[in-house]
This record gives sequence, structure tokens and C-alpha cells, in this order.
Amino acid sequence: MLKIKELQIPGYEKVLEAEDPSVHLHSFIAVHNTSLGPALGGLRMHTYAHPEAALEDVLRLSKAMTYKSALAEDGLGGGKSVIIGNPHKDKTGELLKAFAHVVDRLKGNYIVAEDVGTTMEDMLALKAHTPYICALPTESSSGDPSRFTAWGVFRGMLAVVKKLFHSHSLKNRRIAIQGLGAVGSKLAQLLFWEGADLIVCDIDENQLKEVSRLYGAEIVSEEDFFNTPCDILAPCALGGVLNEHTIPLLNCKAIAGSANNQLHTLENDFELFRRGILYCPDYVINAGGILNAAGEFDEGGYDPKKVRVRVLHIYDTLRTIFQRSEQDGLPTGVIADSLAEYKLLHGIGKRKNPIVFK
Ligand code: NAI
Repeated sequence: MLKIKELQIPGYEKVLEAEDPSVHLHSFIAVHNTSLGPALGGLRMHTYAHPEAALEDVLRLSKAMTYKSALAEDGLGGGKSVIIGNPHKDKTGELLKAFAHVVDRLKGNYIVAEDVGTTMEDMLALKAHTPYICALPTESSSGDPSRFTAWGVFRGMLAVVKKLFHSHSLKNRRIAIQGLGAVGSKLAQLLFWEGADLIVCDIDENQLKEVSRLYGAEIVSEEDFFNTPCDILAPCALGGVLNEHTIPLLNCKAIAGSANNQLHTLENDFELFRRGILYCPDYVINAGGILNAAGEFDEGGYDPKKVRVRVLHIYDTLRTIFQRSEQDGLPTGVIADSLAEYKLLHGIGKRKNPIVFK
């Protein structure tokens, strides 16, 4: 029996808690803001210690999606969802079906994509019960976003070298990548052809050896990663990696990686600024993926060539942020937030064509 409760959370448009003990579903959906378009964000499945931790996560992540989409001007709002459970043991067709019914009740105000703990196959399973799903492995859909995310991070790195070295190239720059998964491995390939010198780190030994072999990359251990002397450090694995323990170790000039929520606290943004380390705000530099998903909703259908052009603008957005940061004497993360809030306030980038769900 599916029970849906609406929680009143200040600053959020709609937050739902949905439970169906018969299929072991306990989930939250947060729609943070839809002023620029319907909320889009991933479905995360994770074994949270307690439901409050899941709620905290979904609130934080959905707000970040609002800011990411606002700055990317993709005509979408911010939302996210979580299912409490072990994705390897607790995921069943019945559980996904029950969750899809909750999504369906929101009538397209929240669109689901894959996230940590869910797969493209799960998205297909949800799609059988609700149309409000995107980034599917089907002909009309946008598919795996990681190549666009990697391309956006690469473009962001070019903005970094332009700012720091007045250069147009990453040739001979030392770049350290943490995490060689879907995004990190593609980023390594782009950087290799650009002529960069790579240092790589991953807990997956096989993947680490393979990337090192393909691109002549130096291997660094997990413990030594943050202390690695390099021009650019690229966190492409986990969130919260820039914190009071790792920042004092940093031996780089800039941070530019795909991981979501890299800063552990807001104070870390200020600390990087004080240390003169140029930080590319995560939700700005990793927007290639959301731009790709948004491309599905273009009139005329998904066209990767159009998305490619949009992702190029990550370079310009970062250049603006760097310039404002210098001018105002404020950290880049603070500047990115203020630019996103300005766009939200003035409806800049608001969706013009309503999405037709099939
Ligand atoms: P993935 O799951 O394919 O790859 C993550 C990689 O990090 C794996 O190879 C894993 O072994 C490695 N890893 C995990 N813990 C590690 C540690 N302690 N040290 C070193 N390596 C470690 O994930 P994906 O898709 O490549 O995403 C990477 C990051 O970028 C995630 O934070 C994700 O949220 C974020 N992101 C991804 C997007 C996409 O298009 N896939 C879009 C926007 C953000």
C-alpha cells in the first residue's frame, strides 16, 4: 500500500516522502525550484544510516540541481530523489514500479535520470510506468551523459589555463585525476590528445593500470593524491573531497573536476580562495551531463551537435566567474551562487517550449 506524505520544507516547492512496506520502498523526492522549467535530477539509491540523512541528501542535491541548471541556462529546474536501500540487494521491479507511481503523481514537474546506485536499465524499468524519465539508452533519448560531462570539464580546464597562464592549451600541463570511471576515463583521453601529462588515481586497480598504460599516466596512491604537485587537480570520483584535511595538502594551482559537491563546507571555498587556488565550482564545470539530458527536450528532438555547442559555453561561464571573483575579492563558489540566484530571480534562461512527454 503506497503512502505519500508531503513535507513542508521552507525554500522547497514540494517534498514528498513515499513508503510502501509491501515492496520495501522508502523514498524522498525533492522539487526545489521550477521557476525556469520542470525539475530534473537523478534518482539515488543508497543505504542511508537513517531517513533524516536521506532527506538531508535529497534537499542538498535538489538545490544544487537548481543552481546547476540556472547557470547552464538549460530551461530546467532543480530536483532529486532518493530510495533508501542497498542498490545491489534491495532493488526489485516492484520497488521501482511503486517509485514510478510517485513520480507520475508529480505530472512532469520532476523528471528522473540515473544517479549513484541506479542504472540505465532501472530508468527503462521506470519508463514502463511513467513518461517522466530521461537519459535512456533508446534512439530518441540522450543516453549516457558522461562524454559531455568530460568535454565540459576539459573546456573548463582551458578556461583555467587561460586565466592562470594566458595560454590556449593544456600541452605539458600536469593534471591529476582522481576517479577513472565514466567521466574520468574520457577526460583522460581528451587530455592525452591535447598533450597533457597525466597523474591518475583510482581504487579500481584494473582500471587504474589500463588508463595508465593507454595514456602513459603516472599512478599516485589515494593517500598521496591531494599532495601531488600539479597544475590542475581533477576530482572525478567522490563528493566532499575538498575539506579541512585535504586543502592544507594541496600542491596544485587549480581544481577542475566533475565530482558533485566537492566542497565539504562553504568555508572550504573561502580557504581555497585565501590560498590562491583557482576553484572551478563543481556544478558549473560538470554541467555537460545536464545539458545533454536537456537536449532531449529540444523542439525537433535530441541532436548531439547542438548539445556540443552548448557545452562550449562552460568555458565562458567560468571565465566570467573568475573575473568577478578577482574583481569582488570573493571565492568562485560564492560568485557562481550569486550568478545563479540572479538568473533565477530574473527568469533568465526560462524554458520557452513546454516539454511534450511521450
Ligand atoms: P563512475 O562511478 O563511473 O566512476 C567513479 C570512479 O571513481 C570509479 O572508477 C571508482 O572506482 C573511482 N573511485 C571511487 N572512490 C575512489 C577513491 N576514493 N579514490 C579514487 N577513485 C575512486 O562515476 P562517473 O559517472 O564517472 O562520475 C564521477 C563523478 O562525477 C561523480 O561524483 C558524479 O556524481 C559526477 N558527475 C558525473 C556526471 C556524468 O555524466 N556521469 C555528471 C555530473 C557529475
